[in-house]
Amino acid sequence: MFKKIKLGLLVSVSSLVLLSACGGGGTATTSSGEKSVSLRLAHNQGTDHPVHKSLEEFTKLAKEESDNSVNVQVFPSGQLGQERDVIELVQSGTLDLAKVSASALESFEDSYSIFSLPYVFKSQEHYYNVMDNSKSVQEIYKLSKDKGFIALGWYDAGQRNVYTGDKEVKSPKDLAGMKIRVQESQTSIAMIKAMGGSPTPMAFGEVYTSLQQGIIDGAENNITALTVNKHGEVAKAYTLTEHQYVPDILIVSTKTWDKLSDSQKDTLANAVKESSESHKKVWADAVKSEEEAAEKLGVKMYEIDKEPFIKAAEPLHEEFVKKNESYKKYFEDFQAQNK
Ligand code: GCU
Repeated sequence: MFKKIKLGLLVSVSSLVLLSACGGGGTATTSSGEKSVSLRLAHNQGTDHPVHKSLEEFTKLAKEESDNSVNVQVFPSGQLGQERDVIELVQSGTLDLAKVSASALESFEDSYSIFSLPYVFKSQEHYYNVMDNSKSVQEIYKLSKDKGFIALGWYDAGQRNVYTGDKEVKSPKDLAGMKIRVQESQTSIAMIKAMGGSPTPMAFGEVYTSLQQGIIDGAENNITALTVNKHGEVAKAYTLTEHQYVPDILIVSTKTWDKLSDSQKDTLANAVKESSESHKKVWADAVKSEEEAAEKLGVKMYEIDKEPFIKAAEPLHEEFVKKNESYKKYFEDFQAQNK
């Protein structure tokens, strides 16, 4: 615990030094008379990750479409901290933008828990329909305004599967006694419990070493975690439980948002929409090449009968719907998009 607090402090102090060293909040004026702004965006993936590539596309579009008045600088690789840290920086207005997993947002705005419900999306098509067309998603994006941030849009982060050192997880019984890393999300914790394992919540940046040192027996994530993030060096069995599609979400500080002109707000909203759309292909291509890369690393992929996992997850859906009327409405809206 002490080590964690100390680490957290170190991250925050160094992030602040980095952020203040970068200045920001430029005051130049563009040819159309718009005051230009410099914004900082942080995320935890490396520059070779498909989501980073699409965030670069986002910054390019924002610059071009705003006549150079919106300049976004990206801080990748967790330079400004783990997902919890950067959400806090965004809340306080120290950082303008962050790309984080919807699961990480759940501790800050509970309605995000819907995205982590296992098997809430029945297929990739259903997932895309919900993320692109559901009114509930747009409503959830704005709910946290008074908590210091809102969401601007989403990026596909694929399907999550369970992986372990070398044990194929054929059924929930095989997870008994296994410590499985999950995101810091109550829903993901409840999910692994329901699926028969022992959930161990921790930040993404700690997973590789924890697998290597045997602190955990496994984790669950999309294929890029095994290859781009190299977990496949220490975990060789990838079981296609296909339990979640958790979107990556781009959040903006309410303080930053309130300072932008209407046209700058529109530009950012469009840039996310366009880059989120082009990201679908970037992601699909990455999945293909990363599956090959995983095989080369010696990772074995196991197809299983998902039915027992789907059954085990059902009580989580029932509990979610019972929480309150808006959650029931969100859930029904999500299901209605499964056309
Ligand atoms: C995905 C997601 C990250 C997140 C990670 C995790 O890779 O894109 O934003 O940090 O999962 O499991 O923590």
